[in-house]
Amino acid sequence: MQLTSALIVLSTLASAHGFRLVDNWSGPSFFDQFSFFTGNDPTHGYVDYVDRGTAQAQGLIGTSGQTVFLRPDSTNRAVGRGRKSVRLTSNKSYNQGSLIIADIGHMPVGCGTWPAFWTVGPNWPSSGEIDILEGVNNQNKNQVTLHTTAGCTMAGVGRDQWAIADALNCDVNAPNQFPNQGCSNVDQNTNSYGQGFNNIGGGVYATLWDASGIKVFFWWHDIVPQDVRNGNPNPAAWGKPTAVFPFGSNCPASHFQNQQIVINLTFCGDWAGSVFSQTCPGDCIAFVRDNPQAFRDAYWAINSVKVYQQ
Ligand SMILES: *[C@@H]1O[C@H](CO)[C@@H](O)[C@H](O)[C@H]1NC(C)=O
Ligand SMILES: *[C@@H]1O[C@H](CO)[C@@H](O)[C@H](O)[C@H]1NC(C)=O
Ligand SMILES: *[C@@H]1O[C@H](CO)[C@@H](O)[C@H](O)[C@H]1NC(C)=O
Repeated sequence: MQLTSALIVLSTLASAHGFRLVDNWSGPSFFDQFSFFTGNDPTHGYVDYVDRGTAQAQGLIGTSGQTVFLRPDSTNRAVGRGRKSVRLTSNKSYNQGSLIIADIGHMPVGCGTWPAFWTVGPNWPSSGEIDILEGVNNQNKNQVTLHTTAGCTMAGVGRDQWAIADALNCDVNAPNQFPNQGCSNVDQNTNSYGQGFNNIGGGVYATLWDASGIKVFFWWHDIVPQDVRNGNPNPAAWGKPTAVFPFGSNCPASHFQNQQIVINLTFCGDWAGSVFSQTCPGDCIAFVRDNPQAFRDAYWAINSVKVYQQ
């Protein structure tokens, strides 16, 4: 008996790979973990972020089994600040040694949309921002981006570690980059974002933030590693990430602190608005204002968010 329980304890420890589950959010209690941001969109989107009561009453949040839904108003012509939507910020914040695993079944798509699953620390950009899943309009490739103060660059990072680099300097005020461009990896997989992502039933985004830096991994559901399915994540066995941002003299780890998880969907604004005409008809704000039915597919379906710590 004693030997058996000792073996069970040993095998539990051995399978833990150094990561312990600290948060496991899904189902109706998911929304208890977040605050509903109701201010004006800092990125100048045409959006009216509503509080929890309003979101509930208007069907903008809900659950089906353990899956959580966040959707914009897709019934009414927009008035005032813009189309009604939700933006959630986790009450808890996380530090180095964290692994955030989000299982997402569907993400907002379509003209005018700018959804993001991301993290941000206080006194932006002093504590850094990690954009894990983000894009605009009809994009089909995910862009993982960091935003920091001066002194964090990926310019010295080996090219083999990167997909297509949009920009290398993570500093939001970097010379020769757009304001607040940050440093980013664009995934070359067209299932990593938007309609392509939804067509395959979504997938799992894992963000590992440890002493070596920040790595983001993406798997569609068929290829999620067994250790992730089992709740014993083993990043060492995962192979090449979709994005890698090493820490070092190029970017001291101190650029990232106290990250809160944010899930948002805005419309138009600094990014979606400025490139709207490349793939979408007419004027972004008029389109978002006048076509509620165009936003029926602009919803998040989140199966779970789990956070592990070293
Ligand atoms: C998170 O913060 C909101 C207020 O913004 C609060 O209503 C909620 O109870 C908090 N959740 C937890 C788990 O503390
Ligand atoms: C939405 O998310 C992006 C994350 O990349 C962020 O830059 C932007 O401020 C957010 N917009 C808002 C405030 O909803
Ligand atoms: C997380 O919670 C879900 C739903 O309650 C549960 O089925 C699952 O086993 C939990 N996962 C882990 C790794 O504990």
